Amino acid sequence: MIVDERMVTFIHSLETENSEILETIEKEALETFVPIIRKEMQSFLKVLLSIQKPLKILEVGTAVGFSALLMSEYAPEGCTITTIEKYEKRIPIARENFKRAGKEEVITLLEGDALEILKGLQESYDFIFMDAAKAQYIYYMPEVIRLLGKGGILVSDNVLQDGDIIESRFAVERRNRTIHSRMREYLYALKHEERLLTSIIPLGDGVAVSVKQ
Ligand SMILES: C[S@@+](CC[C@H](N)C(=O)[O-])C[C@H]1O[C@@H](n2cnc3c(N)ncnc32)[C@H](O)[C@@H]1O
Repeated sequence: MIVDERMVTFIHSLETENSEILETIEKEALETFVPIIRKEMQSFLKVLLSIQKPLKILEVGTAVGFSALLMSEYAPEGCTITTIEKYEKRIPIARENFKRAGKEEVITLLEGDALEILKGLQESYDFIFMDAAKAQYIYYMPEVIRLLGKGGILVSDNVLQDGDIIESRFAVERRNRTIHSRMREYLYALKHEERLLTSIIPLGDGVAVSVKQ
């Protein structure tokens, strides 16, 4: 946890409930150990969507569809969401969840490896939410910048690696070292990419918000 645990508990205590379907899907996801966005990230996305009012959203990392459904509730009428997932066990659950929420027409699930799918996409998006394999973000970046429209927002979740990001490579567990070095590379690239303006925020597990200039 990168923020004081008591502070997180306090902020959580102020959160209001989501819609019934979101509450149900969140509960089911947590019970089955499916990783989904945390409460503070949920609020943050809602606020960003209310400011940006995107008509086209792209999400990398669907899991069981929780964040896609949350975004669909806070994006303006007429907004469509495309979301990418490669894990076969989660894909049918996500599809079923979109159906339960009556959002099959709004959310399109693309099945397969994110990098391959991103390379094949041609449309432009107003808002991209990156929430897949952290070590791959650096490879998704050129495609994501290509797909982001002018003034579009890129939100990259889990960028501070539970605080490990500030440690030296040797202080990080061996199995996390690849993510550690690639995430540092990604954050540097985001901050030094002249087409983007980026703010890195210690919220949840760390979030980077970038605007395409
Ligand atoms: C943190 S979960 C996404 C949670 C979801 N955004 C939510 O909050 O409801 C990350 C997901 O990315 C998927 N993923 C990881 N690597 C991927 C890849 N290369 N291509 C497509 N999906 C990938 C995983 O299978 C996992 O379900």
